[in-house]
Amino acid sequence: MIVYQNNLCEISPCQLSGFCVGWKSPLDGETLHKILKNSYRIVVALDDQTTQVVGFVNSLSDDVYFAFIPMLEVLPAYQNKGIGKELLKRLFVELSSIANIDVLCDKELQSYYEKFGMMKSYGMVFRK
Ligand SMILES: CC(C)(COP(=O)(O)OP(=O)(O)OC[C@H]1O[C@@H](n2cnc3c(N)ncnc32)[C@H](O)[C@@H]1OP(=O)(O)O)[C@@H](O)C(=O)NCCC(=O)NCCS
Repeated sequence: MIVYQNNLCEISPCQLSGFCVGWKSPLDGETLHKILKNSYRIVVALDDQTTQVVGFVNSLSDDVYFAFIPMLEVLPAYQNKGIGKELLKRLFVELSSIANIDVLCDKELQSYYEKFGMMKSYGMVFRK
């Protein structure tokens, strides 16, 4: 069974391996743990059989008007089972008082976010 939690309670870096598939330099468990620890709101999906984290989403925010969703990840073996959808649904509840929520994504994923009522927009980035 997949269980969801909105904190890092009892989750260690070694439970956060295998993410960032296809990245030139995938982030390791230690780095992902730090990212989630320092985030504004998070939702984590765990497989209660393996205790492995199988998906997560995080957000950054000024706690007033703007929030940004930098990462949404589901392990390949767990994709297309509704976990991503559940993570976002729960995150949007956490962010319900924030008027402006931004996410940058590939063009192919725009229709995914549109299902949550998000609109296409334009953006600019630095990538170092
Ligand atoms: C994108 C991602 C989080 C979706 O999670 P998931 O648990 O597999 O998604 P769900 O099961 O909730 O939803 C599946 C739906 O998403 C669609 N989808 C999944 N990945 C997609 C992609 N790369 N492009 C377009 N649609 C995609 C599926 O076609 C399916 O559509 P349907 O509901 O109309 O059948 C997951 O595929 C993933 O981790 N991808 C790699 C990281 C990534 O791209 N993250 C997004 C950063 S902005």
